[in-house]
Formats: sequence, C-alpha cells, structure tokens
Amino acid sequence: MNHAFRALTIADYDGVRRLWQNTEGVGLNESDRRENIASFLDRNPDLSRVAVGGDEIVGAVLCGHDGRRGYLHHLAVAKTHRRLGIGKQLVAACLADLARQGISKCNIFLFADNAVGEAFWQHHGWAKRAGLQVMQKSLIRAAQNCGC
Ligand SMILES: CC(C)(COP(=O)(O)OP(=O)(O)OC[C@H]1O[C@@H](n2cnc3c(N)ncnc32)[C@H](O)[C@@H]1OP(=O)(O)O)[C@@H](O)C(=O)NCCC(=O)NCCS
Repeated sequence: MNHAFRALTIADYDGVRRLWQNTEGVGLNESDRRENIASFLDRNPDLSRVAVGGDEIVGAVLCGHDGRRGYLHHLAVAKTHRRLGIGKQLVAACLADLARQGISKCNIFLFADNAVGEAFWQHHGWAKRAGLQVMQKSLIRAAQNCGC
C-alpha cells in the first residue's frame, strides 16, 4: 500500500478530523475546532505531520512544543493502514524535528483505558512518568466568571 509523508497544514483539516473521528482512543473537544488547530499549526510551524494514501489522510499527528517540552497529540493511523510502519515514522519524524529545535523531552497524553495506544508507546521506549498527575482547569469558565 503506497503512502507518503508530509507536513500537516490547515488544508488537511477535514481529512484529518475524519480520521480522528473514526479512531478509537482519540478524543476530540473544543481545542480541535478548525480555528484552534490553525492556531496550533501557526504556533508550531511544520512540526505536525500526515501520511497520505491516494487522496485520503491515513495517518496524522499533532506535534508542538512550548520551548521546554515537546508534545504529541492525536496520533492516529487508519485501521486499513496499520502495522505498516506509519505510526512509527510519524513519531520518529516529529521527535527528530523537536530534537533539532533543542527540545530534550516529549510528553503524550493517553486515555487510561487505551491499551493499544499504551502498548505502541511502550514498544517504542516511552515510559509512564511516575509521581505526576495531569491537572486541568477550564479557562473558558474562569474567563466567564471573572467579569473581565
Ligand atoms: C497506535 C497506532 C498509531 C499505531 O500505528 P501503526 O501505524 O499501526 O504502527 P506501526 O506500524 O508504525 O508500528 C510500529 C511498531 O510498533 C509496533 N506496534 C504497533 N501497534 C502496536 C500495538 N498495538 N502494540 C504493540 N506494538 C505495536 C509494531 O509491531 C511495530 O514494531 P517494530 O517497529 O518493532 O516492527 C495505531 O494503532 C492507532 O491509530 N491506534 C488508535 C489511536 C491511538 O491509540 N493513538 C495513540 C494515542 S495518542
């Protein structure tokens, strides 16, 4: 099966969103609206990637950093194209780019019940970070409540 890799641009949004919607283990929320993905891509130029087979997006990952840590979000490969090395190559390209930009560590967020995803990451040497929990606050609600 032929596929090619390239940078993810906002022109890919519909195809990438379709892939994410059809992929178990990927949860979409307000941060995944077109304008928010456009903003993410603007802040992190040329780091996110897609795999394209024919006219279809068959793999995608968002990649960015905050100057300190790298982050990968929403790694997904279409069921029809799994176990062909697409996920591995998407991740490897992102990590190489992050390293070139001076980023020494990369984080991912994984749903606790995503056994397939966890097995993939562990297979590639990723380890759970002991002693840390993710905490979060909605800034939408905070902004509404502050009256500013
Ligand atoms: C996880 C996922 C991205 C893997 O994509 P993929 O293209 O099928 O993976 P690859 O073909 O690149 O696999 C590369 C290597 O990982 C291994 N691998 C792939 N899936 C694996 C799994 N579920 N468990 C263990 N190892 C796995 C392959 O055997 C291969 O090993 P090798 O390099 O030693 O030969 C894909 O299964 C997927 O989209 N899952 C649903 C979404 C998800 O869970 N995303 C991660 C959460 S953010």
